[in-house]
Amino acid sequence: MAGTQQEEMDFGSDSERMKKRTVEGGLLITFEGGEGVGKSTQAERLFHKLQSFGIDSIQAQEPGSSDLGNNVRSWIKRANSSSPLAETLLFEAARAQLMFETVRPALDRGKVVVLDRYTDSTLAYQGYARGGDLQTITQLNNIATANLEPHLTVLLDLDPKVSLARVNNEPDLFSGADSGSPTRVDDEGQRRFEDQPMNFHQNIRNGYLEMSKKDSRWCVIKADQAGHRIADAILKRVRRLLIERAIPEAVFRS
Ligand SMILES: Nc1ncnc2c1ncn2[C@@H]1O[C@H](COP(=O)(O)OP(=O)(O)O)[C@@H](O)[C@H]1O
Ligand SMILES: [Mg+2]
Repeated sequence: MAGTQQEEMDFGSDSERMKKRTVEGGLLITFEGGEGVGKSTQAERLFHKLQSFGIDSIQAQEPGSSDLGNNVRSWIKRANSSSPLAETLLFEAARAQLMFETVRPALDRGKVVVLDRYTDSTLAYQGYARGGDLQTITQLNNIATANLEPHLTVLLDLDPKVSLARVNNEPDLFSGADSGSPTRVDDEGQRRFEDQPMNFHQNIRNGYLEMSKKDSRWCVIKADQAGHRIADAILKRVRRLLIERAIPEAVFRS
């Protein structure tokens, strides 16, 4: 049958088809930005796309994707006031655990790790927005991750007036907005931050933009576009990184 022949030409034998593609040393892709900019939506989308290409990948979320992270999240939600340092150390503890139990082992097996928030979130929130010392936070980030830098950081940049309206389920100001059900998975843990005054969110945005100018790992995308456009822009960049790591171009045509 023509269909079967085509499949064999593109993907080789059954055993090869079953085996997911990996890259030497793995690939760490992080998503950053303020509340409601579309990080979880796009991280999910990228993860499914990679899977559909047969690329071995996992998806995780900070601080939620470990038992410790979930406890940190619920504590931060309950705490009336916490010291910025205590908050930073808790996030770093959750991060260290996620590195240990999920991210490092996956990278060691050559997987692509799609991470919804990482070290830059601590710099943006506890540093730029809450006034913590950036150098100290950088040191703590380095300790928690054993200096593991992302290969790519996608910054979804959006005016917080728009992103917070999204989060609060107000009508989106942008006409090409995604329709459909909300996909937020981090509501409870983020509530406290969402309730902060607007200048807190502006500081986060500005902090991210400042960081993005310092390193080529950043890919800044305007997040007031339709979801599929954002997804295409992200995929273009990811595809390049994977091709550089010996993933054949044909994989992305499937
Ligand atoms: N490009 C987009 N345009 C309009 N609304 C979007 C877009 N991407 C996501 N949304 C919606 O905005 C809300 C927040 O998205 P989410 O991915 O949870 O953001 P984050 O994880 O950054 O907080 C959700 O209701 C989601 O469906
Ligand atoms: Mg989210």
